[in-house]
Amino acid sequence: PSPTANNGPLAGKQLLITAGPTREAIDPVRYISNHSSGKMGFALAEAARLAGAMVTLVAGPVALQAHSDIKRIDVVSAEQMLKAVMSQVDKADVFISVAAVSDYRLTEVMDQKIKKNSTEMTLTLVRNPDILKSVADLPNRPFVVGFAAETENVEVHARGKLEKKALDMIAANHVGQADNPVFSSDTNALDVYWPADNGHEHIPSATKQSVAHSLLDIIGQQMSARKT
Ligand code: CTP
Ligand code: CA
Repeated sequence: PSPTANNGPLAGKQLLITAGPTREAIDPVRYISNHSSGKMGFALAEAARLAGAMVTLVAGPVALQAHSDIKRIDVVSAEQMLKAVMSQVDKADVFISVAAVSDYRLTEVMDQKIKKNSTEMTLTLVRNPDILKSVADLPNRPFVVGFAAETENVEVHARGKLEKKALDMIAANHVGQADNPVFSSDTNALDVYWPADNGHEHIPSATKQSVAHSLLDIIGQQMSARKT
């Protein structure tokens, strides 16, 4: 059977998925964020549900609906996303980190709206925790899948992240190309890499639903391959 049929390797498994952007507050009315729509993460959550998995979806601020059988936890900031992920990760068999987590947040969030007093202003930022690496560093970790958004040297950068964060698999988006707009798009193409035998598979441009099924197939195959 296909790994994503509901008797495949993901059936009955617990999948934890992050999706969407995070927002880092500047003051009560402003924030720093990015163009992530959440569509790829939500498509993976839905494909995993159809494959018979039990899905927990930790979502940043997005305008998307999830099926009522998906346990959805809404968060805003990277720190909130980390907390939500850590509260759910113990039971997870697979963690897929699709969220476009803000790498930095404000060192200090203003209590009041900032007034435009001067012609120049500087915001001071501090690094956010790396949620994916925090999960990969756990002693009894799930099968850990990262995403990578790269504008150049996709394989080198993606394999670099695979190794540096000690991931089981990474799915790379080549962003900023005319034929693969990625953000807010309904289509996507992925290059998937894993450590064993320098594993690589290309998922050609298709709807995010279709790409999600293909990625789950590859995850299922690699999880099964490990057990043998
Ligand atoms: N990620 C995360 N927490 C962060 C930053 C990234 O969990 N604070 C995860 C993303 O969900 C993705 C992976 O790490 O699965 C790679 O994200 P990406 O932005 O491509 O890489 P970074 O490691 O943040 O490095 P850089 O932005 O410098 O390329
Ligand atoms: Ca980043």
